[in-house]
Amino acid sequence: MIARIAWIASITLALCLACAAGAQSSSAQPSQSATQKAAPQQPWMNPSLDPDTRADLMIHEMTLDEKIQFVHGLGWGVLRAGASVPPADNGGAGFVPGIPRLNLPDINLADSAVGVRMGAREGRYSTLLPSVLAISASWDPQAACLFGSVIGRELRAQGYNMSIGGGMDLIREPRNGRNFEYSSEDPILAGTMVGQLVRGVQSNHIMGDIKHYVLNDQETGRNVLNAVLDPRSLRETDLLAFQIAIASAHPVGVMCSYNRVNGDYACENDYTLNQVLKRDWGFKGFVLSDWGGTHSTVKATLAGLDMDQPGDDGYFSEPLKRAVLDGQVPEGRLDDKVHRIVRSMFSSGVIDDPPVRGVVNPFQGREDAKKIEEESAVLLENNGILPLATGKVRSVAVIGGHADVGILSGGGSAQVDAPGGNAINPEPGISPWGRAIYFPSSPLEYVRKEAGPDTNVVYDAGTDLAQAAKAAAGAQVAIVFVTQWMSEGRDAPTLSLPDNQDALVAAVAAANPNTIVVLETGGPVTMPWARSVKGILESWYPGIGGGQAIAAILFGRVNPSGKLPVTFPASDSQLPHATITGLTEQMMNPRRGAGATARDPANRPRIRPQPFDVDYNVEGMAVGYRWFQEKNEQPLFPFGFGLSYTHFAYSNLKVNPDAKSVSFDLRNTGARAGDEITEVYVMLPASAGEPFRKLAAWKRVSVGAGATQTVEIPIDPLYLSIYSTANDAWSRPAGDFLIEVGGSSADLPLRQVLHLAAR
Ligand code: NOJ
Repeated sequence: MIARIAWIASITLALCLACAAGAQSSSAQPSQSATQKAAPQQPWMNPSLDPDTRADLMIHEMTLDEKIQFVHGLGWGVLRAGASVPPADNGGAGFVPGIPRLNLPDINLADSAVGVRMGAREGRYSTLLPSVLAISASWDPQAACLFGSVIGRELRAQGYNMSIGGGMDLIREPRNGRNFEYSSEDPILAGTMVGQLVRGVQSNHIMGDIKHYVLNDQETGRNVLNAVLDPRSLRETDLLAFQIAIASAHPVGVMCSYNRVNGDYACENDYTLNQVLKRDWGFKGFVLSDWGGTHSTVKATLAGLDMDQPGDDGYFSEPLKRAVLDGQVPEGRLDDKVHRIVRSMFSSGVIDDPPVRGVVNPFQGREDAKKIEEESAVLLENNGILPLATGKVRSVAVIGGHADVGILSGGGSAQVDAPGGNAINPEPGISPWGRAIYFPSSPLEYVRKEAGPDTNVVYDAGTDLAQAAKAAAGAQVAIVFVTQWMSEGRDAPTLSLPDNQDALVAAVAAANPNTIVVLETGGPVTMPWARSVKGILESWYPGIGGGQAIAAILFGRVNPSGKLPVTFPASDSQLPHATITGLTEQMMNPRRGAGATARDPANRPRIRPQPFDVDYNVEGMAVGYRWFQEKNEQPLFPFGFGLSYTHFAYSNLKVNPDAKSVSFDLRNTGARAGDEITEVYVMLPASAGEPFRKLAAWKRVSVGAGATQTVEIPIDPLYLSIYSTANDAWSRPAGDFLIEVGGSSADLPLRQVLHLAAR
């Protein structure tokens, strides 16, 4: 027990260091006890050697068959009914058997985007964190690191040694079903936050990864679509996000995506894998395919794919061995694949300090999830109604969104099993694919607690509009919960809320002037009723502490401080692609029934569409808020926007003569303490050909009521540069740079023009 407490303390210490700016979590040092356990007779088990040397020493002893064995998984395992499950498989998404005679452990990979997936199968509990998009709304790198560390801690306790979370694709398509697994439409915010998340995972001596590399920006036709984007825009947007995360977190894995990128499949794309990832960025880890994303043996291997998952296609087993033997694949390339995998196991600590199955602490996870949600919820509208005063509001009607029992979670491979089953229909066991799953964190219950014993709080399901309006009319305040369920495998056909919920809000708002809307959505939605309600809180998918966090914000015990990591458009027609490319009527309404099983769900399209192009050159570099600037369109709520229960004033901007940093004064002009996310944007000289301001830096700052703080924010020179495809390099153009500072991309009170030389 004492050893266990000491171990937890050492992990906590490692976490604090990993989350601190500048720390390197990738070169995890084994704990002392783990070092003592190592078998020194095998030279590679000597932890004082570097990971590359240790890998080389081990690979020298490997047979050809052993090398082949270590570059692919053993099939779909628990993911697919009828697939065999090897005895040592821990029950996750992937399994690679180790080589005991060499002390090389198995690799057990678990989906873990917002918590560890597939716990219920073995009676295990995992914490459901808020969505990745939510954590990005905190703009707090430390909170992102905490998020990752919860995942790493629970993977370890469940006996996994590799996470396959780290969703990183840019939000080019706001209707993408997986946006809740992704971070932002801005590459710098996305790269920074996901990088910190992976640092948190790896600080637990767990291998982390980022995915889906690259341009897997919509689910519709993901296996057949060809994403088309000019190389400069690609470098400055989607690839930049990965570049930043890789430089900061050194994830050991990068998962290539299903789609094609400018012609070649992402998992056999020499440009993105060999030239960019491995050559230009010096990535030392390994590339693994998305599940079923490998399409060849020789081409994929030579283009840079290292590991095939789940491996049932056989590309990297016998055919790879034959290709090595007949010289189509140099043996050195096979050694390179194995080296990358084994050195990653040494560098992450999973060999010296292997996970030991234990028990997850659900209370600690819930507390962490609540704290993260409190930082991430975004107050979008407050027409004098919030915060509600505890003990003073006489009656509240809570309406819709299953707010009586729980909060919504996202589906697909990010689905965490709900404890006790779906809260709206409790039935213990695995949370099935294809259904909206609610977790037991009841907003109604916590609203009752926050409101106090003298407040009458009633609930109405919101399914009958007249009934809901009646409940609203009978209360002093109406709080409507609206939901948008999103999942891997499907996109939302429009930005509108599903299931007639716009009409529900309109009916409630018409019945009660004090209406507040709480959103639980995977990403942006339109709100035709936005100006007729008094308050709007975006809680995203708020995680297992969600009910509590939402109520604490509504009643002002927590001052909201999140800001949008993604633009909320006013309508679909404002988007670069007014409809989702390739989304047909048939795909939206797939055949149901015949042949459907729990793992082959009834609502997953079982049609394989013809290949098609998605033309991202329409917007190119102008992703998200940049597009809105370029087209002079007014969004519903802009990127970087979010309200607080206090107000902030900006003054006194000073820009370092070489634009290395900015400083300014931030005054909290309100009556309560609060956090402000201060944002720095830059517009490059006209010669750069980028006619929009771009986020260049930010800082989340806590300021007491009435206090003033001088805030200094460094700016990375890379973010003032453009990518030249002719020179294959980044450089800063010469000319006038406009630097702007404020609290939202659309509210930047401080500005200065700076003339800079080329660099
Ligand atoms: C496919 C998903 O795209 C990927 O994110 C996931 O990790 C694998 N399936 C394994 O479940």
